[in-house]
Amino acid sequence: MSATSSKETLGFQAEVKQLLQLMIHSLYSNKDIFLRELISNASDAADKLRFEGLSDSALYENDPDLKIRIAFDREARTLTISDNGIGMSRQEVIEHIGTIAKSGTREFFSQLSGDQKKDAALIGQFGVGFYSAFIVADRVTLTTRRAGLTSEHGVRWESEGAGDYTLETVDKPGRGTEIVLHLREGEDEFLSDYKIKSVIRTYSDHITLPIVMKKTEWKDGVETPTDEDETVNKASALWARAKKDVTDEEYNEFYKHVAHDFEPPLAWSHNRVEGKQEYISLLYVPSHAPFDLYDRDRRHGIKLYVRRVFIMDDAEQLMPAYLRFVRGVIDSADLPLNVSREILQSSRDIDAIKNGSVKKVLGLLEDLAENQPEKYVEFWNAFGKVLKEGPGEDYANKEKIAALLRFASTHTDSDAQVVSLKDYIGRMKEGQTAIYYITADSFAAAKHSPHLEIFRKKGIEVLLLSDRVDEWLTGNLHEFDGKPLKSVAKGGLDLGALEDEAEKTAQKEAEDAMKPLVERIKTTLGERVKDVRVTHRLTDSPACLVTGEGDMSANLERLLKAAGQAAPTVKPTLEINPSHALVTRLNGESDEDRFADWANLLFEQALLAEGGQLDDPASFVRRLNGLLAMLPS
Ligand SMILES: Nc1ncnc2c1ncn2[C@@H]1O[C@H](COP(=O)(O)OP(=O)(O)OP(=O)(O)O)[C@@H](O)[C@H]1O
Ligand SMILES: [Mg+2]
Repeated sequence: MSATSSKETLGFQAEVKQLLQLMIHSLYSNKDIFLRELISNASDAADKLRFEGLSDSALYENDPDLKIRIAFDREARTLTISDNGIGMSRQEVIEHIGTIAKSGTREFFSQLSGDQKKDAALIGQFGVGFYSAFIVADRVTLTTRRAGLTSEHGVRWESEGAGDYTLETVDKPGRGTEIVLHLREGEDEFLSDYKIKSVIRTYSDHITLPIVMKKTEWKDGVETPTDEDETVNKASALWARAKKDVTDEEYNEFYKHVAHDFEPPLAWSHNRVEGKQEYISLLYVPSHAPFDLYDRDRRHGIKLYVRRVFIMDDAEQLMPAYLRFVRGVIDSADLPLNVSREILQSSRDIDAIKNGSVKKVLGLLEDLAENQPEKYVEFWNAFGKVLKEGPGEDYANKEKIAALLRFASTHTDSDAQVVSLKDYIGRMKEGQTAIYYITADSFAAAKHSPHLEIFRKKGIEVLLLSDRVDEWLTGNLHEFDGKPLKSVAKGGLDLGALEDEAEKTAQKEAEDAMKPLVERIKTTLGERVKDVRVTHRLTDSPACLVTGEGDMSANLERLLKAAGQAAPTVKPTLEINPSHALVTRLNGESDEDRFADWANLLFEQALLAEGGQLDDPASFVRRLNGLLAMLPS
């Protein structure tokens, strides 16, 4: 590229324009945070340089002392934040400053309501980053040069934060990025040494890099910068400090930096581990789910450091997928500095660190559940569905994870997931040996399922599972505390000691009496069912469908098919309620055609009641209308 390339004007991506407008208005009351955001970016840029510098020391260009510098110019009314980190190439400037590459951006914008208060909270969750500079500046000039490129490859980006920005190629001798904020009218408070220092100490004290400013002295009643530098922040790795020396505010601000989050975390665990593996971990549980929790390309997980040197972001080997919401830092004393993702994958040291860290997180959650139940509810609502992936993924910690799970149940009949398996066991009836559950594709379908009738009648609690992941969970979690988990919609119902002799005899009698009817229905339905039998799970409904003990549940079959996956079609067993009026009526029906209509209707309504879909809805409607027409007028 030629060094004389002239200025060009480029338009912002539509979302950037929207974000800018919204942010300036809705974050005004919190405007100090722009400095935190810019310092956070400068610190990330230094981390990246340190990392790339491990394999290419030439990138340091004889300027090895990484730092962030802040200066202000009262006359020009500018505030300047500069770093000697990795910098950006022209292409990187276009990609990073001018577009939002974040996954979930579109969903985010679709959630905005136009109500400033609500949107301000949302924007905070989304992350405001670089653009927050426009809260206080009406013009921002960013000059940068990528480490490793020669000085004529500097780039100057400038914008007034409206629709577009300009780009030009400039000469920049020092690598890194310099951002000049031309302050808006009325923002002169940021032209004060005292104000800037206090913002830095509030939000950015934990930054590992020195943040330097020129010392000032008072001359003729005016605060004037001298030539002498001073470091404003502590500039030591927060996680390496002793717990007692770190305040809650510092933990909170550090979290916001590592997690790129605007809200404080819910809880954290800070540990120094010694022994075979020596490392420090500082692990946080966020208070809300990020936009990309279910996105495969999500970023920002655990940051890995080796002896204070940043090695990589989102080191997925350090946390299993079901704990992917955990944020923080792990700093190893033993790993080699040149550790790569490939090495991490097969490293025993890493496995040991991961196992230790998982235990810490689970311990933190146990503690939260026990001692701060309101916070645990918050956690569960944000991340419960992800934690439910755990028993299938982490065999060794299955029981621990299971103890942390929360469900909706017939005990409250509300969709709030608050019942633990321990609570459930504590309420089990005398003679009850299993933990009963039902899966369905919505809470309402689960709650109103005919399969629950006998359980409701007998006052036996049933867990109501309607999250997609519940099928995966129940496929992997077969027991808890020695009690098997049993679906009420699978297999023959054996309530064992929960039924008395009289009930058992009555059932046997009903079965014998209904034998001919059962055979007739079976012949009529043919291929539609695997079997037909008399049930005692129903009290109000005429019929229901069940699948075999080892078969895939009908709900899972539907979920898989809806996701476009091949799922075997499992034939259900139709169970009929011998004491229901419809069934007795059917028993007395002598007209074969009418009998067939009734029998098919019975099957079809059972399918509908559990959330299934009819293969041939038109025939169902025709049958139903035919029968309705027979009603006496
Ligand atoms: N001082 C800097 N040096 C080098 N690159 C930078 C600098 N500031 C910003 N960038 C680049 O611009 C990108 C966008 O920054 P921005 O702060 O908007 O988002 P982010 O830091 O990636 O995430 P967050 O929204 O959590 O801050 C960064 O990811 C980085 O690639
Ligand atoms: Mg940022």
